[in-house]
Amino acid sequence: MNHVAKGQQNFQVTLFIEGGRCWYSQKSEPCVSQNTFLFADHKPRKARMDTAGKVIKCKAAVLWGTNQPFSIEDIEVAPPKAKEVRVKILATGICGTDDHVIKGTMVSKFPVIVGHEAVGIVESVGEEVTTVRPGDKVIPLFLPQCRECNPCRNPEGNLCIRSDLTGRGVLADGTTRFTCKDKPVQHFMNTSTFTEYTVLDESSVAKIDAEAPPEKACLIGCGFSTGYGAAVKTAKVSPGSTCAVFGLGGVGLSVVMGCKAAGASRIIGIDINKDKFQKALDVGATECINPRDFTKPISEVLSDMTGNTVQYTFEVIGRLETMVDALSSCHMNYGTSVVVGAPPSAKMLSYDPMLLFTGRTWKGCVFGGWKSRDDVPKLVTEFLEKKFDLGQLITHTLPFHNISEGFELLYSGQSIRTVLTF
Ligand SMILES: NC(=O)c1ccc[n+]([C@@H]2O[C@H](COP(=O)([O-])OP(=O)(O)OC[C@H]3O[C@@H](n4cnc5c(N)ncnc54)[C@H](O)[C@@H]3O)[C@@H](O)[C@H]2O)c1
Ligand SMILES: [Zn+2]
Ligand SMILES: [Zn+2]
Repeated sequence: MNHVAKGQQNFQVTLFIEGGRCWYSQKSEPCVSQNTFLFADHKPRKARMDTAGKVIKCKAAVLWGTNQPFSIEDIEVAPPKAKEVRVKILATGICGTDDHVIKGTMVSKFPVIVGHEAVGIVESVGEEVTTVRPGDKVIPLFLPQCRECNPCRNPEGNLCIRSDLTGRGVLADGTTRFTCKDKPVQHFMNTSTFTEYTVLDESSVAKIDAEAPPEKACLIGCGFSTGYGAAVKTAKVSPGSTCAVFGLGGVGLSVVMGCKAAGASRIIGIDINKDKFQKALDVGATECINPRDFTKPISEVLSDMTGNTVQYTFEVIGRLETMVDALSSCHMNYGTSVVVGAPPSAKMLSYDPMLLFTGRTWKGCVFGGWKSRDDVPKLVTEFLEKKFDLGQLITHTLPFHNISEGFELLYSGQSIRTVLTF
């Protein structure tokens, strides 16, 4: 159902009712006071914003320690402080990085609310927030963009110094907005989306087109953008080239989509789970191989297959051995290998420096090299223009409270992306 009401001075509000829940999208800049919307009868009305300034009690999936199951808890979410935004989450994807926290390969304090790939609606904003307002549809950004720090100011940089990749677990002011059973609960990578409501620093919020469907566009918050950007932005895959992608999960398949979009003529998918192959072929891989089917090192297999022409390789698993395999597999002289998989915390890697001496380039990228606040709205627009299909990456959609089932689907290798809806 879709009501469109035109208010005074071109302020148009669209009320969507989906699955018994409603939200509002602003078609143009509002000219009435914040939190007040005009409806068909032209009377201003407070629209579900009566929570502004108050603590919100809601459900969240809390992790109390490593290798423990998610516990759906009643939590309290404090109002946003200055330069913070409180967001109602509409849909969130399950990413391999969330699992790294569960397994302890990514350092985190506990209890914590993970999840970082979502779409939500701004519920309220703290003082001094200028870039979003209540009712805006947004994507939380695990990679912030403060627009002031050294990497933000450099055209080639994107790793904002406000990023929390090391498990600080707090917002910019050093505190948390979540409480459960009277205990503070940690934030995760400036996002924490496995909850009905979250609080984000303004630098970690991108306003997106109100038309974007939450249960698909959420993948732009991490998996899709990371993989696609690794190919088109970080590696700058050239037309006609040969690429090899190690790991065909949601992020690896997005690398495949990026290689295809960049015009690669051969894209070889590599995974130990053959069930991933058909999907990889569907999104653009030209062939797929399982390293366990060969006795030779995978670099030799790839060299034999291609006449030693693999120009770009991508490690999209997060394992040290496959990072070196991917490096060895790109051409010894003009090859480029990109580390996309998150390396395990506090692990060192040894490799033969001759691999680099001969000319290879070894790179990494966080969030596909995109400048998050600038680029995420553009990627959403490209998605709405059908430049790529996010639906191909989504194998399962579940209600939020079935989050553990979503992770089981990841562990069993059945899912690419599971999206949880609220
Ligand atoms: N750089 C970033 O900004 C960023 C962002 C998101 C995710 N990541 C990382 O990317 C990686 C992939 O994420 P995902 O969500 O696609 O995970 P996923 O678990 O869905 O996919 C991983 C894939 O790797 C395959 N695999 C496992 N071991 C393998 C091996 N030895 N050889 C070949 N294939 C193997 C699995 O079968 C699976 O298909 C994770 O490490 C995640 O943390 C990085
Ligand atoms: Zn992710
Ligand atoms: Zn910055």
